[in-house]
Amino acid sequence: MPKISHKGQSMPESPIRKLVPFAEAAEARGISIHQLNIGQPDIKTPQAALNAVKDADIEVLSYSHSAGFLSYREKLAAYYGKQGIDITASDIIISTGGSEALMFAMGSVTDPGDEVIIPEPFYANYNGFATASGVTVKPVISSFESGFALPPISEFEKQITAKTKAIVICNPGNPTGYLYSQEELDQLSELVKKHDLFLIADEVYREFAYDGLQHRSVLNQRSIDEHTIMIDSVSKRFSMCGARIGCIVSRNKNLMATAMKFAQARLSPPTLAQIASEAALDTPQSYFDEVISEYVDRRNTLVEGLEAIPGVRVAKPKGAFYCIVELPVKNADDFARWLLESFEYNKKTIMVAPAAGFYSTEGEGINQVRIAYVLKKEDLIEAVSLLKEALQQYKD
Ligand SMILES: Cc1ncc(COP(=O)(O)O)c(C=O)c1O
Repeated sequence: MPKISHKGQSMPESPIRKLVPFAEAAEARGISIHQLNIGQPDIKTPQAALNAVKDADIEVLSYSHSAGFLSYREKLAAYYGKQGIDITASDIIISTGGSEALMFAMGSVTDPGDEVIIPEPFYANYNGFATASGVTVKPVISSFESGFALPPISEFEKQITAKTKAIVICNPGNPTGYLYSQEELDQLSELVKKHDLFLIADEVYREFAYDGLQHRSVLNQRSIDEHTIMIDSVSKRFSMCGARIGCIVSRNKNLMATAMKFAQARLSPPTLAQIASEAALDTPQSYFDEVISEYVDRRNTLVEGLEAIPGVRVAKPKGAFYCIVELPVKNADDFARWLLESFEYNKKTIMVAPAAGFYSTEGEGINQVRIAYVLKKEDLIEAVSLLKEALQQYKD
């Protein structure tokens, strides 16, 4: 039998998707499941994006430029301009989802054996992207008590070695919902300048900032232009996860020339999805205003409901649509599986993502889960009452 690579064997399983077989078995038993485990929004995709694909007059579905349509990149630059980010089309490469942009970034700044520092808990797939690049993730723990604010800079400095190439942040955070302040971004800027590192900011949830708080892009840290790489995506912004369109943005010309070689190797991002994404940029502000107010309403409903369950603690999110929830159980992994295998109330149950998979420090997040509030308010209310019932029945 030919051997699978060590790299392949060490690729992590998705903590978000590993419970899927148990969910499928529950569904086969006639149980309906409120899926709080994945960030698939139920919000409608803007009609203009769908119409653009329907109306596309195409005879050959051809490759596009490896950096993506110029017309799309120009419109995207104008879109960032409206948000106070001064960028040109040549600073942007369109990717197949934010996921590919993260791979381009990782590939462009690290060699096998290098290290990146990431505040944890973090988006679990960063582990997969790092492993695929032969890179080690050095975590710096952010605390539940602080709502997952930026850990002290001294903690980052403790992790910096000659192999450290970049610091990766997610702003607003998945799974934490934390939104970094200007002061925190300034601290990070000083740090990357001092140690000559890249600062990769995953801003795919940039529009999802609540309570009047403003999202601050790493691209506006103008004293570190050569260090900053921004990752973006249409997946959540326009509820277009299946389009598979994202981008990598940087003013560092060397970095972009390198990322372009990765882009050329995979030829081009998807053509039809670029047509949809370009059209989506005409979406009026009223769409976002409605979406944001819907998410705020959902967040408030969820947090209020969860806080009323004895023994449950929530770190109230300021952005994105996730929160980390501490449960009165010993092992949230076992509990999440039990919810699908052994629990039901009126033929219903819930699916959550055990949070340990969002940490890379062994033993962290063991009694936590991540909940995505991507369901309608009525469903969230029902999901919370199912959780309450389940916790009463569960024997550790
Ligand atoms: C923090 C974060 N970054 C990147 C991605 C990847 O998004 P996509 O590849 O769909 O653009 C996701 C998807 O859930 C995410 O949550």
